[in-house]
Amino acid sequence: MNIENTFAEIRARIAQAKSITVLTGAGISADSGVPTFRGAEGLWKNFRPEELASPEAFERDPMLVWQWYNWRRELLATKSPNPGHHALAELEQRAKNFWLITQNVDGLHAAAGIQKLSEIHGNIWKVRCTSCRIVTDNHDVPIEILPYCPSCQGLLRPHIVWFGESLNPEDLRNSYDALQSCEILIIIGTSGAVYPAASFGSVAKDHGAYVIELNLDPTPNSDLVDVAIQGRAKDLVPRLLS
Ligand code: OAD
Repeated sequence: MNIENTFAEIRARIAQAKSITVLTGAGISADSGVPTFRGAEGLWKNFRPEELASPEAFERDPMLVWQWYNWRRELLATKSPNPGHHALAELEQRAKNFWLITQNVDGLHAAAGIQKLSEIHGNIWKVRCTSCRIVTDNHDVPIEILPYCPSCQGLLRPHIVWFGESLNPEDLRNSYDALQSCEILIIIGTSGAVYPAASFGSVAKDHGAYVIELNLDPTPNSDLVDVAIQGRAKDLVPRLLS
Protein backbone atom coordinates (compact mmCIF):
# COMPACT_ATOMS: atom_id res chain seq x y z
CA MET A 1 0.00 0.00 0.00
CA ASN A 2 1.43 3.44 -0.80
CA ILE A 3 1.78 6.02 1.95
CA GLU A 4 -1.20 8.13 0.80
CA ASN A 5 -3.48 5.07 0.98
CA THR A 6 -2.07 4.23 4.41
CA PHE A 7 -2.85 7.77 5.62
CA ALA A 8 -6.37 7.58 4.13
CA GLU A 9 -7.04 4.25 5.84
CA ILE A 10 -5.81 5.52 9.22
CA ARG A 11 -7.89 8.72 8.92
CA ALA A 12 -11.00 6.64 8.18
CA ARG A 13 -10.33 4.37 11.16
CA ILE A 14 -9.81 7.38 13.45
CA ALA A 15 -13.02 9.03 12.21
CA GLN A 16 -15.03 5.89 13.04
CA ALA A 17 -13.34 4.86 16.28
CA LYS A 18 -15.35 4.98 19.48
CA SER A 19 -12.23 5.22 21.64
CA ILE A 20 -8.73 6.44 20.95
CA THR A 21 -5.73 6.30 23.27
CA VAL A 22 -2.44 8.07 22.60
CA LEU A 23 0.95 7.32 24.18
CA THR A 24 3.67 9.94 23.78
CA GLY A 25 7.35 10.23 24.58
CA ALA A 26 10.10 12.80 24.21
CA GLY A 27 9.90 12.71 20.39
CA ILE A 28 6.70 14.76 20.29
CA SER A 29 8.37 17.57 22.23
CA ALA A 30 11.60 17.34 20.19
CA ASP A 31 9.91 19.48 17.55
CA SER A 32 9.39 22.18 20.20
CA GLY A 33 13.15 22.17 20.82
CA VAL A 34 13.07 19.99 23.95
CA PRO A 35 16.00 17.52 24.07
CA THR A 36 15.13 13.80 24.03
CA PHE A 37 16.83 11.33 26.40
CA ARG A 38 18.40 8.76 24.09
CA GLY A 39 20.10 9.00 20.71
CA ALA A 40 23.02 11.14 19.52
CA GLU A 41 21.77 14.43 21.02
CA GLY A 42 19.93 12.85 23.98
CA LEU A 43 20.29 14.08 27.57
CA TRP A 44 21.55 10.68 28.75
CA LYS A 45 24.60 11.05 26.46
CA ASN A 46 25.99 13.80 28.68
CA PHE A 47 24.34 13.09 32.04
CA ARG A 48 24.11 9.90 34.08
CA PRO A 49 20.53 9.06 35.15
CA GLU A 50 21.69 7.43 38.39
CA GLU A 51 23.47 10.66 39.42
CA LEU A 52 20.51 12.94 38.68
CA ALA A 53 17.22 11.08 38.42
CA SER A 54 17.09 8.62 41.29
CA PRO A 55 16.05 8.82 44.97
CA GLU A 56 19.61 7.85 45.96
CA ALA A 57 21.04 10.78 43.95
CA PHE A 58 18.65 13.20 45.71
CA GLU A 59 19.58 11.83 49.12
CA ARG A 60 23.30 12.10 48.31
CA ASP A 61 23.30 15.55 46.69
CA PRO A 62 19.93 17.37 46.55
CA MET A 63 21.63 20.57 45.40
CA LEU A 64 23.11 18.89 42.30
CA VAL A 65 19.76 17.29 41.45
CA TRP A 66 17.91 20.59 41.88
CA GLN A 67 20.52 22.41 39.77
CA TRP A 68 19.88 19.94 36.96
CA TYR A 69 16.10 20.29 37.21
CA ASN A 70 16.46 24.08 37.39
CA TRP A 71 18.51 23.99 34.19
CA ARG A 72 15.77 21.95 32.51
CA ARG A 73 13.08 24.34 33.82
CA GLU A 74 15.01 27.30 32.39
CA LEU A 75 15.12 25.54 29.03
CA LEU A 76 11.47 24.45 29.09
CA ALA A 77 10.24 27.90 30.11
CA THR A 78 11.23 29.06 26.60
CA LYS A 79 9.35 26.24 24.79
CA SER A 80 5.77 25.97 23.63
CA PRO A 81 3.51 23.29 22.12
CA ASN A 82 4.07 22.48 18.43
CA PRO A 83 1.51 21.48 15.74
CA GLY A 84 1.71 17.85 16.95
CA HIS A 85 0.55 18.80 20.48
CA HIS A 86 -2.20 21.04 19.03
CA ALA A 87 -3.50 18.35 16.65
CA LEU A 88 -3.87 15.94 19.60
CA ALA A 89 -5.76 18.57 21.59
CA GLU A 90 -8.16 18.95 18.63
CA LEU A 91 -8.55 15.17 18.43
CA GLU A 92 -9.53 15.09 22.11
CA GLN A 93 -12.35 17.54 21.34
CA ARG A 94 -13.89 15.44 18.60
CA ALA A 95 -13.15 11.85 19.76
CA LYS A 96 -15.95 10.04 21.58
CA ASN A 97 -13.60 8.55 24.17
CA PHE A 98 -10.06 9.78 24.43
CA TRP A 99 -7.13 9.38 26.78
CA LEU A 100 -3.56 10.56 26.46
CA ILE A 101 -0.74 8.87 28.36
CA THR A 102 2.53 10.75 28.30
CA GLN A 103 5.98 9.96 29.65
CA ASN A 104 6.89 13.62 29.19
CA VAL A 105 7.26 15.83 32.25
CA ASP A 106 7.39 19.10 30.28
CA GLY A 107 3.69 20.01 30.62
CA LEU A 108 3.37 20.78 26.88
CA HIS A 109 0.28 18.58 26.33
CA ALA A 110 -1.58 20.45 29.08
CA ALA A 111 -0.31 23.75 27.64
CA ALA A 112 -1.90 22.74 24.31
CA GLY A 113 -5.23 22.20 26.13
CA ILE A 114 -5.36 18.42 26.67
CA GLN A 115 -7.49 17.51 29.69
CA LYS A 116 -7.80 13.72 29.61
CA LEU A 117 -4.21 13.11 30.51
CA SER A 118 -1.99 10.82 32.60
CA GLU A 119 1.52 12.23 33.07
CA ILE A 120 2.91 8.90 34.20
CA HIS A 121 6.44 10.18 34.89
CA GLY A 122 5.24 13.31 36.72
CA ASN A 123 5.54 16.98 35.88
CA ILE A 124 8.58 19.24 36.14
CA TRP A 125 6.33 22.19 37.10
CA LYS A 126 5.18 20.42 40.28
CA VAL A 127 7.08 19.93 43.52
CA ARG A 128 6.48 17.48 46.35
CA CYS A 129 7.39 17.85 50.00
CA THR A 130 9.64 15.02 51.19
CA SER A 131 8.15 15.47 54.66
CA CYS A 132 4.39 16.17 54.39
CA ARG A 133 4.16 14.81 50.77
CA ILE A 134 1.96 17.69 49.58
CA VAL A 135 2.21 18.25 45.80
CA THR A 136 2.02 21.85 44.59
CA ASP A 137 2.40 23.71 41.30
CA ASN A 138 5.63 25.65 41.11
CA HIS A 139 6.66 27.65 38.03
CA ASP A 140 9.60 29.52 39.60
CA VAL A 141 12.45 30.01 37.13
CA PRO A 142 14.97 29.94 38.59
CA ILE A 143 13.71 27.94 41.52
CA GLU A 144 15.34 28.67 44.87
CA ILE A 145 17.99 26.04 45.59
CA LEU A 146 17.25 24.40 47.92
CA PRO A 147 13.45 24.92 47.98
CA TYR A 148 11.48 24.25 51.18
CA CYS A 149 7.80 23.51 51.86
CA PRO A 150 5.83 26.64 52.84
CA SER A 151 3.60 24.52 55.13
CA CYS A 152 6.04 22.33 57.07
CA GLN A 153 9.56 23.52 56.02
CA GLY A 154 10.41 20.03 54.68
CA LEU A 155 12.74 19.77 51.68
CA LEU A 156 10.88 19.92 48.34
CA ARG A 157 11.75 17.54 45.51
CA PRO A 158 10.71 17.52 41.84
CA HIS A 159 7.37 15.70 41.36
CA ILE A 160 8.99 13.27 38.91
CA VAL A 161 9.01 9.48 38.91
CA TRP A 162 12.71 8.67 39.18
CA PHE A 163 14.52 5.46 38.23
CA GLY A 164 13.66 2.78 40.77
CA GLU A 165 10.39 4.47 41.87
CA SER A 166 6.85 3.23 41.28
CA LEU A 167 4.30 4.97 39.12
CA ASN A 168 1.32 6.61 40.78
CA PRO A 169 -1.41 3.91 41.13
CA GLU A 170 -4.19 6.18 39.82
CA ASP A 171 -2.15 7.05 36.71
CA LEU A 172 -1.49 3.35 36.15
CA ARG A 173 -5.15 2.45 36.58
CA ASN A 174 -6.29 5.17 34.15
CA SER A 175 -3.60 4.15 31.66
CA TYR A 176 -4.48 0.45 31.70
CA ASP A 177 -8.21 1.25 31.46
CA ALA A 178 -7.50 3.37 28.38
CA LEU A 179 -5.17 0.77 26.82
CA GLN A 180 -7.52 -2.13 27.39
CA SER A 181 -10.63 -0.37 26.10
CA CYS A 182 -9.35 1.59 23.09
CA GLU A 183 -10.08 0.74 19.46
CA ILE A 184 -6.99 2.64 18.34
CA LEU A 185 -3.69 3.31 20.10
CA ILE A 186 -1.33 5.88 18.57
CA ILE A 187 2.26 5.67 19.91
CA ILE A 188 4.24 8.84 19.19
CA GLY A 189 7.94 9.58 19.68
CA THR A 190 9.00 7.06 22.30
CA SER A 191 12.02 4.75 22.08
CA GLY A 192 10.20 1.99 23.99
CA ALA A 193 13.16 1.67 26.35
CA VAL A 194 11.44 2.39 29.68
CA TYR A 195 8.84 0.15 31.34
CA PRO A 196 5.94 -0.04 31.89
CA ALA A 197 5.27 2.32 28.94
CA ALA A 198 7.40 0.10 26.69
CA SER A 199 4.78 -2.65 27.10
CA PHE A 200 1.69 -0.47 26.50
CA GLY A 201 1.64 -1.25 22.76
CA SER A 202 1.35 -4.99 23.44
CA VAL A 203 -1.28 -4.44 26.14
CA ALA A 204 -3.51 -2.57 23.67
CA LYS A 205 -2.77 -5.07 20.89
CA ASP A 206 -3.66 -8.01 23.16
CA HIS A 207 -7.01 -6.32 23.80
CA GLY A 208 -7.77 -5.99 20.10
CA ALA A 209 -6.67 -2.40 19.38
CA TYR A 210 -5.34 -1.23 16.03
CA VAL A 211 -1.92 0.17 16.93
CA ILE A 212 -0.14 2.93 15.00
CA GLU A 213 3.43 4.09 15.65
CA LEU A 214 4.74 7.51 14.57
CA ASN A 215 8.48 7.98 15.14
CA LEU A 216 11.53 9.42 13.45
CA ASP A 217 13.12 5.95 13.50
CA PRO A 218 12.04 2.31 13.88
CA THR A 219 11.79 1.14 17.51
CA PRO A 220 11.25 -2.19 19.32
CA ASN A 221 7.49 -1.42 19.00
CA SER A 222 7.64 -1.18 15.20
CA ASP A 223 7.37 -4.94 14.68
CA LEU A 224 4.32 -5.45 16.83
CA VAL A 225 2.20 -2.49 15.65
CA ASP A 226 -0.25 -2.60 12.73
CA VAL A 227 1.40 0.32 11.01
CA ALA A 228 4.67 2.17 11.72
CA ILE A 229 5.30 5.47 9.95
CA GLN A 230 8.65 7.24 10.08
CA GLY A 231 8.83 11.02 10.22
CA ARG A 232 8.63 14.07 12.47
CA ALA A 233 5.74 14.21 14.92
CA LYS A 234 5.02 17.86 14.09
CA ASP A 235 4.35 16.84 10.45
CA LEU A 236 2.84 13.36 10.84
CA VAL A 237 0.39 14.02 13.66
CA PRO A 238 -1.43 16.97 12.02
CA ARG A 239 -1.36 15.17 8.68
CA LEU A 240 -2.99 12.06 10.13
CA LEU A 241 -5.50 13.83 12.33
CA SER A 242 -6.58 16.64 10.02
P1 OAD B 1 13.72 8.73 24.30
O1 OAD B 1 14.69 9.85 24.25
O2 OAD B 1 14.17 7.43 24.83
O3 OAD B 1 13.16 8.46 22.83
C1 OAD B 1 12.71 9.50 22.00
C2 OAD B 1 12.11 8.89 20.75
O4 OAD B 1 11.60 9.94 19.95
C3 OAD B 1 13.12 8.11 19.88
O5 OAD B 1 12.54 6.87 19.50
C4 OAD B 1 13.30 9.02 18.65
O6 OAD B 1 13.49 8.27 17.45
C5 OAD B 1 11.98 9.76 18.61
N1 OAD B 1 12.02 11.10 18.01
C6 OAD B 1 12.99 12.04 18.13
N2 OAD B 1 12.63 13.17 17.49
C7 OAD B 1 11.40 12.94 16.96
C8 OAD B 1 10.48 13.74 16.19
N3 OAD B 1 10.76 14.99 15.85
N4 OAD B 1 9.30 13.18 15.83
C9 OAD B 1 9.01 11.88 16.16
N5 OAD B 1 9.84 11.09 16.89
C10 OAD B 1 11.00 11.61 17.28
O7 OAD B 1 12.44 9.28 25.08
P2 OAD B 1 11.27 8.46 25.80
O8 OAD B 1 10.94 7.22 25.05
O9 OAD B 1 10.19 9.43 26.05
O10 OAD B 1 12.01 9.37 32.13
O11 OAD B 1 11.98 8.10 27.16
C11 OAD B 1 11.26 7.47 28.21
C12 OAD B 1 11.72 7.97 29.56
O12 OAD B 1 13.13 7.82 29.68
C13 OAD B 1 11.47 9.46 29.79
O13 OAD B 1 10.16 9.74 30.19
C14 OAD B 1 12.48 9.81 30.84
C15 OAD B 1 13.66 8.99 30.37
O14 OAD B 1 14.54 8.57 31.34
C16 OAD B 1 11.76 10.30 33.11
O15 OAD B 1 11.86 11.50 32.94
C17 OAD B 1 11.33 9.74 34.40
